[in-house]
Amino acid sequence: MGIFYWYSILIAVGLCESLDSPADVGADSEVKNTEFDLNKTELLAAFVVFRHGDRTPDQEELDKLPLKELNNEKLFYPYGKKALTNKGKQRAFLVGKYLRDRYNGTISSLYLPNESHIQTTDYSRTKMTALTALAALFPPPPAQRWNPDLNWQPVPYDTPAYNVDNFLYYYNCPRYIQLRNKIYELPEFQKRLAPYERLFKNLSDKAQSNITTAEDVFDLDNLFQTLGNVGVLTPQWAVDVMPQIKEVTKIEYAAEFYTVELIRLASGVLMGDILNATNAIIDGSDKVPKLWLFSAHENNVAALMAASGVFYPHQPKYGSTISLEMRKDLVTGKYGVLTVYAAEAGGPGVILPIRGCGSKPLCDYDSFVSMTQEIRISMSDYKKECSIK
Ligand SMILES: *[C@@H]1O[C@H](CO)[C@@H](O)[C@H](O)[C@H]1NC(C)=O
Ligand SMILES: *[C@@H]1O[C@H](CO)[C@@H](O)[C@H](O)[C@H]1NC(C)=O
Ligand SMILES: *[C@@H]1O[C@H](CO)[C@@H](O)[C@H](O)[C@H]1NC(C)=O
Ligand SMILES: *[C@@H]1O[C@H](CO)[C@@H](O)[C@H](O)[C@H]1NC(C)=O
Ligand SMILES: *[C@@H]1O[C@H](CO)[C@@H](O)[C@H](O)[C@H]1NC(C)=O
Ligand SMILES: *[C@@H]1O[C@H](CO)[C@@H](O)[C@H](O)[C@H]1NC(C)=O
Repeated sequence: MGIFYWYSILIAVGLCESLDSPADVGADSEVKNTEFDLNKTELLAAFVVFRHGDRTPDQEELDKLPLKELNNEKLFYPYGKKALTNKGKQRAFLVGKYLRDRYNGTISSLYLPNESHIQTTDYSRTKMTALTALAALFPPPPAQRWNPDLNWQPVPYDTPAYNVDNFLYYYNCPRYIQLRNKIYELPEFQKRLAPYERLFKNLSDKAQSNITTAEDVFDLDNLFQTLGNVGVLTPQWAVDVMPQIKEVTKIEYAAEFYTVELIRLASGVLMGDILNATNAIIDGSDKVPKLWLFSAHENNVAALMAASGVFYPHQPKYGSTISLEMRKDLVTGKYGVLTVYAAEAGGPGVILPIRGCGSKPLCDYDSFVSMTQEIRISMSDYKKECSIK
């Protein structure tokens, strides 16, 4: 099967705050290893959110650096703006291989429609990422091989409408943005941003645009990354202050998931769907898909991590993958939740211990259900809070 059954667990010391005050610690905090035997568990279902692959810039980002030579479609040919690049497709393919390796025992080698739920946001890049990952996840076995020259079969996915897609809260839920803006009024965030006042001014001068918020800096950071994806070098004035830019990006990520309310709007509908499906499986239903795939955006990866109590402020990379795995402990017979994060496209997947679960890798299902109670929200309440008609 090509996967290792003993996983190293990164236990980030200090990741023990409650969900409403996430610790600002990350991969660089002290870690120690323990071991966990996956063989002593049975995987019932996996819920997986991944970020699309490398892309070209979008207009909002280009507006942060209004230079004629950048606002030029030729730069992005043949992809277009806000689109997946070939490198992005390669990374998406690695995501699919990672999923096949990890879930080979759980789903058939055949594409069986009932086994998987596949969903994307209404963006070309997440749809193309899904298609590419699915090409790696479901290469047709003989029974589904339909063209001898092509090791590929069509696999469908669903895409909710933009305005009612809870994965797109950042765009369709003004309440979320209001709450996120309020975080920056908190004394602790004012204090954290204070050292960067000069940076904002500096970047505004150099970019000839208004860089006044952490989100503006974050957009600029993404612009440099996405321009880099089409071979445009980051200007020296930005390279010189890149460490500070990255710090501000981290602060933006800390702000976005700083309270239960923010996490609820960002990931509460998904968490509700996940536990609803899991409950049905535990109750013995065999009608529920075992593999749930969501091809989405960096903030969706971060949001599910936050809702699960494993987030640390950082920007999830292209093709990064977070899995919530519902497992049965074969020794005790109890159900549990395992969170596995592939920070790089294609893995390796690392088990992140869930805060509030006593640094046990497999979080007791009942504990997880009660820990996430405040976070879950129904679709109808989401629509109400987000003023979606
Ligand atoms: C998945 O499992 C099938 C059946 O056990 C096996 O034939 C196949 O080689 C496996 N694929 C991978 C990528 O491990
Ligand atoms: C886990 O199970 C697999 C397949 O049954 C086996 O190959 C592997 O050696 C087992 N690993 C451990 C640590 O027991
Ligand atoms: C901007 O930052 C660069 C690099 O640190 C520095 O050389 C330059 O003087 C700064 N400019 C302004 C206007 O602050
Ligand atoms: C910056 O914002 C101010 C106030 O909204 C506006 O008047 C000004 O034109 C903006 N400058 C640039 C370079 O976009
Ligand atoms: C909960 O799960 C059941 C069984 O899978 C399904 O029929 C129902 O539509 C789900 N409800 C919601 C609100 O998702
Ligand atoms: C699979 O889907 C078909 C068609 O929707 C349905 O008739 C069948 O009951 C499903 N099987 C399982 C095991 O869920």
